Amino acid sequence: MQFKSLPGFREFYPEDCAVRNFIFARWRESARRFGFQEWDAPALEPLELFTEKSGEEIVSQLFNFEDKGGRKVSLRPEMTPSLARLVAARAGSLRHPIKWFGIGENYRYEKQQRGRLRAFYQYNADILGEPGCAADAEIIALCVESLHAFGLSENDFCIRLSDRTLWFLFLENIGVPDEATAVKVLSVVDKLERVAHEGLVEMMTAALAGTPLDPAETLATVREFVALKSLDALNAFFSDRSGAEKALARLEEWKKLLGLLEALGVGAFVRTDLTIVRGLAYYTGFVFEAFQLVGEGRALAGGGRYDKLVKKLGGPEMPAVGFGMGDVTLRNLLEQQTLLPQIVDAPDFYAIILGEENRAEALSDVAVLRDCGFRVEYAFKDGKFGKLIQTAEQTGARYALIYGTNELALGVVKVRDTQERREIAFPRENLAGTLAEILERGLPVIEEPHCRGDGSCGHCTCGKHE
Ligand code: HAM
Repeated sequence: MQFKSLPGFREFYPEDCAVRNFIFARWRESARRFGFQEWDAPALEPLELFTEKSGEEIVSQLFNFEDKGGRKVSLRPEMTPSLARLVAARAGSLRHPIKWFGIGENYRYEKQQRGRLRAFYQYNADILGEPGCAADAEIIALCVESLHAFGLSENDFCIRLSDRTLWFLFLENIGVPDEATAVKVLSVVDKLERVAHEGLVEMMTAALAGTPLDPAETLATVREFVALKSLDALNAFFSDRSGAEKALARLEEWKKLLGLLEALGVGAFVRTDLTIVRGLAYYTGFVFEAFQLVGEGRALAGGGRYDKLVKKLGGPEMPAVGFGMGDVTLRNLLEQQTLLPQIVDAPDFYAIILGEENRAEALSDVAVLRDCGFRVEYAFKDGKFGKLIQTAEQTGARYALIYGTNELALGVVKVRDTQERREIAFPRENLAGTLAEILERGLPVIEEPHCRGDGSCGHCTCGKHE
């Protein structure tokens, strides 16, 4: 019987791990350039950390169970509630603003499809302790830079910027009576791009139950609102409406944020897009998604401001803003745009040991070279020279080190360039220094003074007539 991994869970063969490491390294470099520090938390958490805070959609996707001690637990579907708990526990002693990033595996019981799995890695970056839009600007700029670092440009992705505060002010202005109803209307807005008109009217009817508002009319007004694609258009829209002073004041914040994003050099990536409201329950202000523009349009990252979560988890009032970026859609996009580099995972040297009696001597050199930081491999069993050379070439090592009886008697080792297929003998003394130079400059080209090019001189190392 052959065991299979669970649906939606990936296995990482070495070549996949190499890609994963490459992606994580770029994420880490970007976050560090912005002065963020790395954090982590357990992948298994108390269930209630998510049932209370994450919102319906995620709760329906939890990998939860009871552990052997009778505790209700869940694999994390996201990292934000854990982050809020960590910060809440040490809020008094942490230097503000807190700028943290983390990379971890998350689990969601979703229907598996292209770009969506049940286990995926997510890179999170968050700023806590800063209420002003300077923090939103910094987070959005980091989100852009973290994608730009892979060579992705404004032709490949954009940031769709929206604002739950503005949404609430708009819904209040059109007569939605309270926040609870507004939240229900926003969950309809979240489906605007995915559900047909009739379905949306039905959902809107349910959302507006008990209010005097007409569902079809409200949907039409909502569509008019999401069609506004610039700050100027939003200003014009609210200037024409009575009682929209708070919304107009909020647009001043938009102006500030867009100015900062321009100054940080990422303005070209940002588009006003009110269809983004975010599925997670805790967002309070500006929200955004990094969206791929080529191929299938998919979210590469999502985030926004969540000013109430830390307090809900027992901490003090703590404004916060952040994003999460998944590895699945990003890897697909990098492959599609041929932006994944050829990742070479080869040893520096491959030692060819000819004769078991020479193994101990050769391995003592291998140990020294490894101590010096070189990556060295060798065959565990004795074999024919040709076969060992072939193995050396297959590992991708640029140089083979040949240890035969003759070489050891002379106190030398032959260094063979596996691509050019030529070799030169060097003293074993200070081998590490010699090899460091060869790695940097290549095998020296030595013209043999007496070489006639036909092998008759007997000591030719030019490799032309082996
Ligand atoms: P989210 O929008 O649920 O936000 O997820 C963020 C990103 O994680 C998505 O844009 C996508 O790239 C990736 N992702 C989500 N679900 C899956 C899945 N099933 N398979 C593959 N990739 C997936 C959050 O999780 C928030 N906690 C982000 C955040 C951090 N907000 C503030 N700070």
